[in-house]
Amino acid sequence: MTLNFDTLFINANLATMDLNIETPYGTIKNGALGTKDGRIAWIGEMGNLPKYKCKKKNIRDCQGDWITPGLVDCHTHLVFGGNRAREFEQRLNGVSYEQIAKNGGGIISTVTATRDADEEILALDASDRLMDLASGGVTTVEIKSGYGLDLETEIKMLKTMRSLAAQEDVRVVTTFLGAHAIPPEYKGRSDDYIDLICNVMVPKLAKLGLADAVDGFCENIAFSPDQIRRVFETAKKYALPVKLHAEQLSNQGGAKLAAEFGALSADHLEYIDEDGVKAMAASGTVAVLLPGAFYCLKERKKPPVELFRKHGVPMALATDCNPGSSPITSPPLILNMACTLFGFTPEEALAGMTREGAKALGLGNEIGTLEIGKSADLALWTLEHPSELSYWVGRDYCQARVLGSVLINSGRNGAKYAKIY
Ligand code: NIG
Ligand code: FE
Repeated sequence: MTLNFDTLFINANLATMDLNIETPYGTIKNGALGTKDGRIAWIGEMGNLPKYKCKKKNIRDCQGDWITPGLVDCHTHLVFGGNRAREFEQRLNGVSYEQIAKNGGGIISTVTATRDADEEILALDASDRLMDLASGGVTTVEIKSGYGLDLETEIKMLKTMRSLAAQEDVRVVTTFLGAHAIPPEYKGRSDDYIDLICNVMVPKLAKLGLADAVDGFCENIAFSPDQIRRVFETAKKYALPVKLHAEQLSNQGGAKLAAEFGALSADHLEYIDEDGVKAMAASGTVAVLLPGAFYCLKERKKPPVELFRKHGVPMALATDCNPGSSPITSPPLILNMACTLFGFTPEEALAGMTREGAKALGLGNEIGTLEIGKSADLALWTLEHPSELSYWVGRDYCQARVLGSVLINSGRNGAKYAKIY
């Protein structure tokens, strides 16, 4: 039988991250990967390449470069107005993140800036940050709303995200994070704000098709488990998957609640206990760990990586790019931090931003590994070994990305590699 390829990558080392391939990183050395109609149609060793047809100009000689699944950044707040460098200064002068929030700063100062932001500027700023992520190898990004906290601004944010998807050659998954903070006009009336989320915001956004999932912030400076439960029940009514910022600054039992609702993920999790971990394992909820926020907030308590391993909870990693707790747009920096700060192995780190990140978005069957039938979302790197992705500290040197089979040159050497690929 002769296979027809739209594109064929030859002489590549493949870090498939496919658990069915029992080599570290699911590696296939000296391999080839063929695509058809945006999907991976064949993958294997060069020596086993079957008879094929492919236009000569679409055969790319990778000259020993590595191909990994395109990176998945499954937790970001990429769309926001302004920045919070002044609060960074305050924190260095001894004021805590929680105290700043209690004084009306923190998330609320970004809410003010986002409400005021001109739509075009909002999109341009976010697109700039998205380009950083893309040059670090990202092909899929999740973006949360939650800096509007009123219907109009939440819609403005979510529409901006949808428009980025069209511009930047990156898959964008949107999440409605109305329950991020109590808006100033609802101060002291947080239950009334939850009413607004449940009775007005979720129904409207579901109707507009602007949100792919619903998230919340379960914390003593944000919302209680009972309030989050109401948000989750509403999301369920509208068939929207849920996820939760849980146990970031204290243990509120948020992870258990998320697990009870079959959440896609529970995120942060520094303060989770073993019962919470067990509940996540039972429901298949992914632990999204965010070393950037841990680092920037100078946290001491680490997420219990050993317990996640013991109970088989998948661990994803993300930049958490946001103006307060993680102004970071470098995926490789996150890989390095996960290893250095949380004790991930480089292989677990890469899995965290590929296979497990995809699972955290409910896209485990579509992206995240190099497997026949999955979308041909790839990242190409000049490396000796994939451990280098975690070893270099924040060095973004992805040479090119492929999204659904379409080649997109990006990264510092884009021009040079344009000739080769
Ligand atoms: O993921 N934890 C809550 N939300 C963000 C921080 C948002 C902000 O400080 O602006 C986070 O860390
Ligand atoms: Fe977050």
